[in-house]
Amino acid sequence: MSTTDITGATALVTGASRGFGSGIAAALSKAGARVVGVARDHEQLQRLHSELGDSFIPVAADAAGPVTAGQLIDAYRPSILVLNAGAAPLTRPLQHHTWQTFSQNWDVDVQHVFRWVREALLTPLDPGSTVITVSSGAALRGSPLSGGYAGAKAAIRFITAYAADESDRADLDIRFRSVLPQLTPATSLGSAAVAAYAARQGVDVARYLETAGPTLTIEQVGSAVTTLITDPSHDRNAYVLTPGGLSPAP
Ligand SMILES: NC(=O)c1ccc[n+]([C@@H]2O[C@H](COP(=O)([O-])OP(=O)(O)OC[C@H]3O[C@@H](n4cnc5c(N)ncnc54)[C@H](OP(=O)(O)O)[C@@H]3O)[C@@H](O)[C@H]2O)c1
Repeated sequence: MSTTDITGATALVTGASRGFGSGIAAALSKAGARVVGVARDHEQLQRLHSELGDSFIPVAADAAGPVTAGQLIDAYRPSILVLNAGAAPLTRPLQHHTWQTFSQNWDVDVQHVFRWVREALLTPLDPGSTVITVSSGAALRGSPLSGGYAGAKAAIRFITAYAADESDRADLDIRFRSVLPQLTPATSLGSAAVAAYAARQGVDVARYLETAGPTLTIEQVGSAVTTLITDPSHDRNAYVLTPGGLSPAP
């Protein structure tokens, strides 16, 4: 099966200012797409703009806000949406969470995916469009120090599968995929989680990482997301992502 050329296509990436999102924006830009990068920190987005050039359009906005998805889909008409924005969970045992800290990833990660996926179906995006949502390996195993994080990421996988079904039923020809990356210290969110799990096991971070084996880089995440968009043979709803690459999620 040949790969899809995304030269000149418009991709919109949420949470593009740093971490996985900046790696995804860089990979899509390298593949020839015009990339609209959404995050709240304007300065960080400007920094990425100076690295990637004018094919990267920075937009400072709250991706989980009530009108952001509708406004930006109308303004840019993307054919590729990567819903990656996510809050860094507070890392502490269950009983030390409040309902507010426990539910943070529902308020940000899930709410944003729900709003953007809904707009993608209702607008609808053009036939042949692709929507990728960033879930987590935690959706399969739990994340006992991160409050409601794992449940929120599992809900994102479900929402993506429901949307794929609605797209099929209405013949919209919009592909929906979720990606479940393995925990990595390569980002600020991941390094805080790794430090918490290392402390919980009573080992230092270096020892924890040695036991865990190879870790994902943001470049690998960018490349894997690009593959999900451009390679039609990746036709499953959800993929686990490790340093070894993409594999269908169980
Ligand atoms: N790192 C890991 O080990 C790992 C593993 C599996 C899954 N994930 C998931 O991968 C995604 C990216 O995480 P990361 O590790 O790259 O974290 P990160 O470095 O903390 O980056 C998070 C990004 O999301 C943005 N963001 C947060 N809230 C936002 C909002 N309301 N509106 C717009 N943008 C918002 C942040 O930008 P601003 O603060 O400027 O808004 C930032 O660009 C998350 O969904 C995370 O749960 C991470």
